[in-house]
This record gives sequence, structure tokens and C-alpha cells, in this order.
Amino acid sequence: MIDTHCHLLHSLDDGPKTERDSLELARQLAVAGVRTVVCTPHFSRRYPTALAPARARIAELERLLFEAPISLSLSLAAEVSPAFAVSKPMEELLPRSIDGRFLLVELEPDTPAAFLETAVDRLAGERLSPVFAHPERCPSVREQTRLLEEARAAGALIQVVAPSLTGRWGKEVGVAAWRLLDTGVVDLLGSDSHRPSHAATHLEVASRLVEERYGGEVLADLAERVPSRLVGIAA
Ligand SMILES: [Fe+2]
Repeated sequence: MIDTHCHLLHSLDDGPKTERDSLELARQLAVAGVRTVVCTPHFSRRYPTALAPARARIAELERLLFEAPISLSLSLAAEVSPAFAVSKPMEELLPRSIDGRFLLVELEPDTPAAFLETAVDRLAGERLSPVFAHPERCPSVREQTRLLEEARAAGALIQVVAPSLTGRWGKEVGVAAWRLLDTGVVDLLGSDSHRPSHAATHLEVASRLVEERYGGEVLADLAERVPSRLVGIAA
């Protein structure tokens, strides 16, 4: 699997607090079948993660993975808040994009539905496509699959996250996440891992449930083929 949403780096945001926890999370993700992680520390008012410490963390972690050894390749992007996605200068967003082509933008519980089009239009000027994370947690969007379809038609991708599918965020979010998958508007499955132990379990359980419900090909699309297009590697 290729995980395109993961708070793997420690002491940057609400992810792992120590290097040891970061390494343990990496180990658990590898055991769960993840081979590539796009590290996506928050870039928001609350966690305005700077690039230099994030780059330093990823270099440290790569060294630890090599020594362990744990087979996991890493790259750096960010999970950008709705406000930052439409207000920060592009020179701050581009270095936080995935491969210079996609920007992971979270949808928060209070994000208005009109934000989807605003974000698509703003990023299109720089040929960036938004990857909208966890629409299932956003009531204004999750009931309007037409808006998600329009965003996809304009180049956006839709990502549900494993803890939503396993019920971590409650019944309503879980029902919405599965409904989005049922309607076929979801492109990607991310782990949205923040800590060791539970994170990898959520991804393992969610993957199994997706495979049981839709088959192995759908899981491969969500967790391998489409993510491989983002990070520019062969699936
Ligand atoms: Fe996240």
C-alpha cells in the first residue's frame, strides 16, 4: 500500500511525540503492508509546520529506518487546512504539495460546501489538483456527492481515511464514509495515522473491510494504483 495521508513525523503537529513513537508507527505501517508513506504534517493556523524541521525529521527517520531495518520509503508533503489552501501564497503551498501536482487539503466539520470549487479554482492556476481529505467528516459536503463529482471532474481527488471506516470518528462519520465508497466518488484510502498501535490497526481493518465489500481490485485502486499516480511510482 501507499499511504498518502500520515502524521508520521514526530513533534511537529498532533502526531507522534517522540522519535521512538515515530519509528514504532513506521514499523507498524510496514507490517500492515504499507511500503511508501507521504508524510503530511498539518499546515494550519494551529500547526503551521515549517519546512525545515519537517525535512530534518524525515532525514532522521530515513536513517533510523535504514538502521532498523524497516522497508518504508518516505516523502514529504502536508495536510493543508481549508483556510491556508485558499489564502497562503503559492510559494508556501507548492513545496508542501505531492510531487508538485497534488495538494492534500483537509475538509473540516465546519467547511462550507462552496469551498470545494473555490479551492479547485485557486489551485488550478498553479496546475495543482486538490486531494480532499475526509469529506465524510464534513456534513456540508458528505451529503452532496454531486459536488464531489464536480470537483473530481475538475481534477480533484477524494480521499477517505481508515479511522472513519472503522468507526473511530463515530457512527455518522462511518456511515458517511461507507456511503461515499458505495457511490463510487472516492479515489484514495489514507491512514491518517497519528500514533503507533491504533493507527496501523485502523488501516488493516479498513483495508480488510473494503476488500470484503468491494473486492481486491477496488482496494488496490484506492490504496495502491491511484496513490502511485500521485507519488509518481509504478504500482
Ligand atoms: Fe490528517
